[in-house]
Amino acid sequence: MSASRPAAVIVLAAGEGTRMKSRTTPKVLHELCGRSMVGHVLAAARRLEPDRLIVVVGHGRDKVVEHLARVDPDALPVTQAEQNGTGHAVRIALETAGIAGGTVVVTNGDHPLLRGETLAELVRTHHEESNAVTVLSTDIPDPTGYGRIVRGPGGDVTAIVEHKDAGPDQRAIPEINVGMYVFDGLLLADALKRVTTDNASGEEYLTDVVGILREDGHRAGAYKAADWVETQGVNDRVQLAQARRQLNDRILEAHMRAGVTIVDPQSTWVDVQVTFEPDAVIEPNTQLHGGTHIAAGARVGPNCTLTGTSVGEDAVVVNAVCDSAEIGPEVSVGPFTYLRPGTRLARKAKAGAYVEMKKAVVGEGAKVPHLTYVGDADIGEGSNIGAGTIFANYDGVSKHHTDVGSHAFVGSDSVLVAPVAVGDGAYVAAGSVVVQAVTPGAMAVARGRQRNVEGWVERKRPGTPSAEAARGAQAQTGQQSE
Ligand code: UD1
Ligand code: CA
Repeated sequence: MSASRPAAVIVLAAGEGTRMKSRTTPKVLHELCGRSMVGHVLAAARRLEPDRLIVVVGHGRDKVVEHLARVDPDALPVTQAEQNGTGHAVRIALETAGIAGGTVVVTNGDHPLLRGETLAELVRTHHEESNAVTVLSTDIPDPTGYGRIVRGPGGDVTAIVEHKDAGPDQRAIPEINVGMYVFDGLLLADALKRVTTDNASGEEYLTDVVGILREDGHRAGAYKAADWVETQGVNDRVQLAQARRQLNDRILEAHMRAGVTIVDPQSTWVDVQVTFEPDAVIEPNTQLHGGTHIAAGARVGPNCTLTGTSVGEDAVVVNAVCDSAEIGPEVSVGPFTYLRPGTRLARKAKAGAYVEMKKAVVGEGAKVPHLTYVGDADIGEGSNIGAGTIFANYDGVSKHHTDVGSHAFVGSDSVLVAPVAVGDGAYVAAGSVVVQAVTPGAMAVARGRQRNVEGWVERKRPGTPSAEAARGAQAQTGQQSE
């Protein structure tokens, strides 16, 4: 097993990616399904457990290096100041990292769909056939632009010819060079010294190594990928969208086969890091990002966007946006609910329609059913927060905390002005503005007392429909009391 472990994987990511037409983002940092393009390539490369993982950077170098430090700190960035071709890039990588032998895998940085398993098959074939170089190839419907795999009369690989340099016969070859290779490191280093820039692009082609090694009498082989879709590179944002769709389909398919119901795969988007338990149900138009986890029997959607959020067993989340929230088992969220970071809902709690929460810890069975903002608060088990309650947590300078005990009842349209506490089993009358602690079991009434000014409408608004209605009501009351 360890014999087949490569000494190095070299990821080529120095190119400009002109066709992405981005002012801000280097090509390999464009994202799909929760990872950058180069992030997907690195994840596939890691499956090979290489001794060294080297990324050749150039255009947008600072951003790419900063990104690598975040997503794969053990990857070694090597700078290629001028992009003189793929051969030049690999030569610099070998020299800078001091790689002098072993198996060396090279892969383009803009092929996010490539599976680690396919790379592993490529390496396996390389060793089985005792090749000096093994190329990943595939037949594609339109090979325009790609390097072609040239085979000899016996079917063995003799060279790769770039599209620009190919004659009509060679351009008719449907088998292309995908841009992934396995080399004998020593032979690669030696051959790269002999690669010239004598071609249509004036660049050092890595692909020329194949012909050079063949002429030296070494074996060259190709491993043909069955699924050409997987080998697709991304050069512009149309291909980026196509790759995203492909990858999303692949992710959803794996989860469905593992027992997750996805009602409408066309409108469901799931990042690679998301995890599910069997019998989770995802309704249409739902996006699940980051480390979101959906437990067994939970139902999420329609119309949900969850980021880094966990949803407990048998919970129901409808029409909600949730970011870094913990939704417990049998909890009900939605519709039209916004849960922000630090929100934790215990078993059977409820965050209902038009409710926003931030750093809110809601106890078991506690209910916040309608039109409420809860910020920086603890709500104890079994409490009920009436419609239109505002937890006023911000005084214009600092945020403050509110504590509501267990089995408390806050009447509708109340404002709890933090810092403040409502004790266990306490009540707050509807429409109260609570500015001091409510002791356990007390009933706080913090609002103007009601006063009726009798006969006001008939005196001040005579002849209006209101005055008529009032007179009618009084006449009836008069008759009834006779
Ligand atoms: C390359 C192959 C071609 C293959 C195709 C598959 C060569 C000469 N040709 O062509 O046979 O069919 O990929 O997509 O290799 N890069 C660097 N430094 C450079 C030049 C390129 O790091 O100096 C990187 C790019 O960022 C990219 C990769 O190498 O990730 C491939 O380069 P690109 O210019 O896209 O090569 P192609 O012309 O597509
Ligand atoms: Ca390319």
